Amino acid sequence: MLEQYIEKVLISEDQITQRAKELGSELTKDFEGKNPLILGILRGSIPFLAELVKHIDTHVEMDFMALSSYHGGTKSSGEVKMIMDLDTPVNGREVIIVEDIIDTGLTLKYLRELLEHRGAIVTIVTMLDKKAGRKVEIDPDYLGFDIPNEFVVGFGLDYDENYRNLPYVGVLKQEVYMD
Ligand code: IMP
Repeated sequence: MLEQYIEKVLISEDQITQRAKELGSELTKDFEGKNPLILGILRGSIPFLAELVKHIDTHVEMDFMALSSYHGGTKSSGEVKMIMDLDTPVNGREVIIVEDIIDTGLTLKYLRELLEHRGAIVTIVTMLDKKAGRKVEIDPDYLGFDIPNEFVVGFGLDYDENYRNLPYVGVLKQEVYMD
């Protein structure tokens, strides 16, 4: 089935759920009584966000935003576009951004500046960090896993809107995107 398109599994489902548990406990401790807004970045963060929030044991609210810097390929276009804004006012609010992956850093730099401009106190959580891809300086406050500079899919991450439903993070076979 979908496994035939995957070169190798980089991070297993068990590893992700275990790490989400650990990060959830840290966030519970650090945000107790602060009523933060969990801001999920559509569409890739959804599976990880769903896993993470189950382990945050204090009051939080949730909202979503859609941004895009890819246009179907495996390289960032370098231009971030807002596709859907969040509804919740953020002035003076603790906002925890939940991302699937940081690569160039352009998406999160844009988002952090936008939210800070609106008066939010921003915290960044990402499932994956591809530090070798970085073009601008930005670091997550909470990180799931560092990964090498390879194009990955699964657990929310897509290639051309596919593979988001894989229960693990894997490297796509080269021939899939060479065609
Ligand atoms: P950045 O702006 O380059 O940091 O990229 C962030 C966005 O690019 C992520 O939210 C993903 O949607 C996408 N992205 C970056 N690397 C990968 C990858 O290896 N696989 C799938 N999507 C990726």
